[in-house]
Amino acid sequence: MNKLKVVIAGGGSTYTPGIISALLSHIERFPMEEIRLYDNDPIRNEDMQLIIEQLLKEQNHPEIKLIAEEDPKTAFAGADFVFSQIRVGGLKMREQDEKIPLKYGLVGQETCGLGGFAYGLRSIKGLLEIVGYVQEYAPSAWILNYTNPETLVGEAIRRVYPGIKMINVCDMTISIEETIAENYNYDRKNWVPTYFGLNHYGWYTEIYDKSLERDVMPEIIEKMQEKAMGVAEFNEGDQTWAEAFKMMSTIVEYFPDYIPNNYLEYYLFPDLVVEKTDKDYTRANMVMEGRERNTKEMARKIRAGETENVLNFNFGEHGNYIVDIATSLLNDEHRRFMVITPNRGSIPNLREDAVVEVPAYIGATGIEPIALDPINDFHKGLMEAQVAAEKLLVDAYFEQSYQKALQAFTLNQSVNSAYVAKQVLDEMIEANKGYWPELN
Ligand code: NAD
Ligand code: G6P
Ligand code: MN
Repeated sequence: MNKLKVVIAGGGSTYTPGIISALLSHIERFPMEEIRLYDNDPIRNEDMQLIIEQLLKEQNHPEIKLIAEEDPKTAFAGADFVFSQIRVGGLKMREQDEKIPLKYGLVGQETCGLGGFAYGLRSIKGLLEIVGYVQEYAPSAWILNYTNPETLVGEAIRRVYPGIKMINVCDMTISIEETIAENYNYDRKNWVPTYFGLNHYGWYTEIYDKSLERDVMPEIIEKMQEKAMGVAEFNEGDQTWAEAFKMMSTIVEYFPDYIPNNYLEYYLFPDLVVEKTDKDYTRANMVMEGRERNTKEMARKIRAGETENVLNFNFGEHGNYIVDIATSLLNDEHRRFMVITPNRGSIPNLREDAVVEVPAYIGATGIEPIALDPINDFHKGLMEAQVAAEKLLVDAYFEQSYQKALQAFTLNQSVNSAYVAKQVLDEMIEANKGYWPELN
C-alpha cells in the first residue's frame, strides 16, 4: 500500500493531538509518510507543530515527515486524506455565540440554538474555502469533516459540491455509547446501535448487543430512570458534561421510548437550561481556560526546551472515531458508523433532501447509509421544523437574505418569539462583521 499524505485543516486545533495519536495507533492499517498541519493562524500552527514533533519523537516515528503550512497549495497538493476541524472566529466568537442569546433568555450554545446558527454562518465560508482548496490541489483526496455545526456545513457544501468525496461525522454518538457502557457495565464494542436524527438532535431506537444477543436499549432506559449517568473516564471532572449526561435521565423520564442525544436538552428544555447557565461565564470561557490554555502551555514548555512529561491530553473516542472511519474507507472494511448525510430515503417519511445523522457502512466507495423504519409524529415534527430552519439559514447565507435569516432564527426549535429572534439576529450581525456575509 502506498504511504499516505495526510492534511489536518485547522492544524492548530486543540483536537489535533488526539487525531494524530489515533492515527499513530492505527498506523498498520493507515500507513503515513507525511502529516501536514494547515491553519490560517501561523502561531497556533507552529505551536502544534512543536507538540506533534514531540509526540512523533515519543512514539518513535522518524519516518513520518511533519510540516506546518499556511500556504494552501503547498499544504493540500497531492494529499490523500484531509481531516477538517476549523473553528472560524475561534473560541472568542464562540463566546459571543453563547452569550448573546443568553442575554435575551435563549439557549446560548456552540452548535445548538441561535449560537449554532451564528457559528454556521461563519463556518460555511471557512469550510467552503477548505473544500475549494482540496478540489483544486488534491481532487482525489477524501475529506473527513468534524467542523461544526455539522448539519449546516453539510447542507452548504453539498449545494456547491454535490459529488464531493467528503464524510461528515460527529463524535457525540460514540461518546454517549461509551458513557452508557461505562455507567452500566456493558462492552460497547459488542454494540450495533440504530439511531436517527439531525446532528446533535437524534434518538437511538435500538442497541443490539452481539454478545448478549438482545436489544439492550429498553434495560438501559430503565437504568437511566433509576439512576442518572455520571461522566465516563474521558470526561472526568468536567461539570458541563456531568450535567448534560444527568439531564438525559430527565429526557427519558418524559419520553421513555428511545435514548436521546444529550443535545436535545437545548430544544426540549431550553428554559431549564437557560436557568442553570451562568450568563457571564459560559462553556467557551471554560474551554479557553482549559483545553486551549493547556495546548499553549505544552507548546511553551517545549519551546523552552522542556521535553519530559510535557504532553498531557485525554480525548476520549474523538480521534479514534474519525480514524476508524478513515481506515474503514481505506481498507474497504465496511464497518458501521453514524454519519451526517443527505437523507435520500434513509428515514423514509422525512424529506429526502434533509441532512440527517444515521448509521452507514463505510468502505472504499464511501458511505452506504442504511434504510431505517419510518419515524413517529413527535420526532418527525421536531425534525421537520428544525430542518426547515436550517435550510432557511443556508439559503440566507447564499442569497445574503436578511428575511431568510430572520425566518431561520424564528423557526429554530430553541426559540418561540419572532420579536426575540430579531433582536438576537440584529446583535449578532454586529458581532459577526467580517465573518458573516452581508445580509440585505
Ligand atoms: P480551535 O479554535 O482550538 O481550533 C480550530 C483551528 O482552526 C484554529 O487553530 C484556527 O486558527 C483554525 N482556523 C479557523 N479558521 C480557519 C480557516 N478558515 N482556515 C484554516 N484554519 C482555520 O477549536 P477546537 O475546539 O479545537 O475545535 C475545532 C473544530 O472541531 C470546531 O469546529 C469544533 O466545533 C469541531 N468539533 C467537532 C466535533 C464533532 O463532533 N463534529 C467534535 C469536537 C470538535
Ligand atoms: C462534542 C460534540 C461536538 C462539540 C464538542 C464540544 O464532542 O460532538 O460537536 O464540538 O462536544 O466540546 P467542548 O469541550 O468544546 O465544549
Ligand atoms: Mn458533534
